[in-house]
Amino acid sequence: MADHLPMIWPLESHTLAKHMILQNYLRAWLPIMGSSNRRLLFIDGYAGPGVYNNGEDGSPVIVVKEAMDYISTCATKGWTKPEIVCLFIEQDAARFASLTETLGKIEIPSQIKVNPIHSSFEETASKILSFLDAKSFSLAPAFIFVDPFGYNLPFSLITRLMNYPKCEVFINLMYAFVNRFINRSGQEEVMTRLFGGEEWRGLDLKDNSPSDRWLQIHDLYQRQLQKHAAKYVRSFTMRDARNVPLYFLFYGTNHKIGLEKMKTAMWRVDKGGSYAFSDATDPSQLVFFGNGPDYKKLKSLIVEKFSGRAATIEEIEDFVLCETPFLPTQFKREILKPMETNQELYVLTSSRKRKGTFPSDTVLQFAEV
Ligand SMILES: C[S@@+](CC[C@H](N)C(=O)[O-])C[C@H]1O[C@@H](n2cnc3c(N)ncnc32)[C@H](O)[C@@H]1O
Repeated sequence: MADHLPMIWPLESHTLAKHMILQNYLRAWLPIMGSSNRRLLFIDGYAGPGVYNNGEDGSPVIVVKEAMDYISTCATKGWTKPEIVCLFIEQDAARFASLTETLGKIEIPSQIKVNPIHSSFEETASKILSFLDAKSFSLAPAFIFVDPFGYNLPFSLITRLMNYPKCEVFINLMYAFVNRFINRSGQEEVMTRLFGGEEWRGLDLKDNSPSDRWLQIHDLYQRQLQKHAAKYVRSFTMRDARNVPLYFLFYGTNHKIGLEKMKTAMWRVDKGGSYAFSDATDPSQLVFFGNGPDYKKLKSLIVEKFSGRAATIEEIEDFVLCETPFLPTQFKREILKPMETNQELYVLTSSRKRKGTFPSDTVLQFAEV
């Protein structure tokens, strides 16, 4: 699918929000994975020209700068430096030239291997996978950013990549285009490739309100990812200046720690925890949603789950992380402590020294409601 943008284009607020999530996440991912692996891999499958109209950084430059910061922290702290391999794939010749020129201006330390590739994501990823299969090699811990303009993205590639245990994906599902073309004749094959099966044909999109449509398309992609690619999936919605969904960012991982770090990265961008950003918030400058977490909601979720039951802190933490939009740092002081004061729960066992604290060996009994 051809795009109609010039070689480089203006940075929009939603793109800046996307970059902030990427950057926040890499700041957590690099030290966690770097401390126990000799090599890390970052693939930017749709790298772009590396720069925006006013000289702002594109995703490959953001990645390289984060990697450089991490390598320099390793040097300062005396940590072993991993090798960080970056594959930046760009299909368009002019954008690829801009990308290599932009990257060429950065003095990159030797631990960071930067490989711009003038090709398509589909072709390069398939080649890498075939090579790994043929040699029975595994993949180094990998973060794969899939950020196309359109929706010509094979789901089968995502599932094949996610078969490698330490692989994570961050996918931009271009909802606005999918929504426009999903019922158009001639698009059937592309939709089946995108959703990894025929399930999209069962969506009941006719006569639906716009919010119903986006929810159905969003939820189908999420279900497919959870069924075929990743144990944990979290998404973030980008809306345009009319507050209409433009695209969804889907993060998929098989590790709870990754989920926690990505949720934290997303909360930093949307402090209300609705996992959304809208250009309508303020078209001239980046102002994030900012009403703070809805603790009433978190309390009701915890009470609904644990009412009348005994539960360990680990169980509650797991529930908050994996089954709610909230973070595991948000429930002890804000929810459990006041609940204990109000006798809505009791501590059964704990090694704690002070009331209102809940170390990991604590077991709680929730009152029946
Ligand atoms: C949304 S832009 C990427 C923006 C970039 N990730 C960033 O955040 O700065 C998508 C890019 O993918 C390129 N592209 C389109 N089809 C591609 C394909 N099949 N494989 C790789 N790159 C492709 C386009 O030329 C465009 O530069």
